[in-house]
Amino acid sequence: DKDGHKHFMAKEIAEQPTAINRALAAYLDQNNQITLPEELDFTKVERLTLVACGTGYYACLAAKYWFEQIARMPVEVDVASEFRYREPPISAGTLAVFVSQSGETADTLAALRYCAGKAQQIAGLVNVPESSIARESDVVLPIHAGPEISVASTKAFTCQLVILLLMALKAAAQRGQPLPADLPEDLRSLPGLLHQVIAGEEQVTAVSRELAKAQDIIFLGRGHLYPLALEGALKLKELSYIHAEGYASGELKHGPIALIDETVPVVVIAPSDALFDKTVSNMQEVMARGGKVILVTDAKGAELASEGVAETLVLPHVNSVLTPILYAVPAQQIAYFTAIAKGTDVDQPRNLAKSVTVE
Ligand code: F6R
Repeated sequence: DKDGHKHFMAKEIAEQPTAINRALAAYLDQNNQITLPEELDFTKVERLTLVACGTGYYACLAAKYWFEQIARMPVEVDVASEFRYREPPISAGTLAVFVSQSGETADTLAALRYCAGKAQQIAGLVNVPESSIARESDVVLPIHAGPEISVASTKAFTCQLVILLLMALKAAAQRGQPLPADLPEDLRSLPGLLHQVIAGEEQVTAVSRELAKAQDIIFLGRGHLYPLALEGALKLKELSYIHAEGYASGELKHGPIALIDETVPVVVIAPSDALFDKTVSNMQEVMARGGKVILVTDAKGAELASEGVAETLVLPHVNSVLTPILYAVPAQQIAYFTAIAKGTDVDQPRNLAKSVTVE
């Protein structure tokens, strides 16, 4: 049941505020104490290994920034299909975390089995609590996104991010690291902010009609928004079949800038944070070569840097730690509306399956 929406994907984008509230209700109590399973003891963990495929992998990449910056822990992130055959040495103090919406992805399950008996502990972040990955994990953290029907992952991604962030905050607290200002309290404002962005979807529809004419689209982001550039490009290519690539903004001049001309739109994901000026200077390099920039930012960023930009998508201000979660919504909307403009099958893109149980 699509609940009045045209597609399951639209329904699932719209459900994100509710899904995140459900995840917060499960892992954050009324006094803003983080209530993760007690077996998760970060004081004993020496390093984290995060493993997943596709969109889950990008959630892990964003979490790397959080675990490193907030909890000051060494973190390794890998795609499951590489991890399993590389047979990496696993030190005894490793917490290995496997992130999977379905809990059945063959490569992720094989990577988990490789770690069994080697890692100190195996944690599974899954949306399906009775899945294989849940069954074979020492600690299971259901993400509480609710059933996700559309092949392209949306609400599972943002719920994965919320729980990975809560883990990083818990790790920081247990390891005597100061928590970032106003966290975890500011997590409470996220569902309302996501709702605002979802309600403001018309600003994306016009942009998407233009994007639908392109052959190639580039996404740029820096810091913990770099994984979101990768996610934005993945979502766009799988739904609209337009070739899209995500890059770390600073990598632009090491190759990809050769692609830029007036036919290549560049989506720049840049809230007004500590790295804003750096990303803006990369964006200006794009514009100097005729590239059409779509800037995704907040009101302050729009005021500082909209000059010469083809389109600006303005999001509400949010605690900068939380930007990967809020900015996931325009990335999803861009993919969704571009696919609509192209007339592709949004919920069932060609060649894709919801659950990849063979490698
Ligand atoms: C992209 C997408 C896929 C999945 C990937 C992993 O929109 O949905 O990239 O994220 O196949 O699936 P799970 O999370 O079920 O292991």
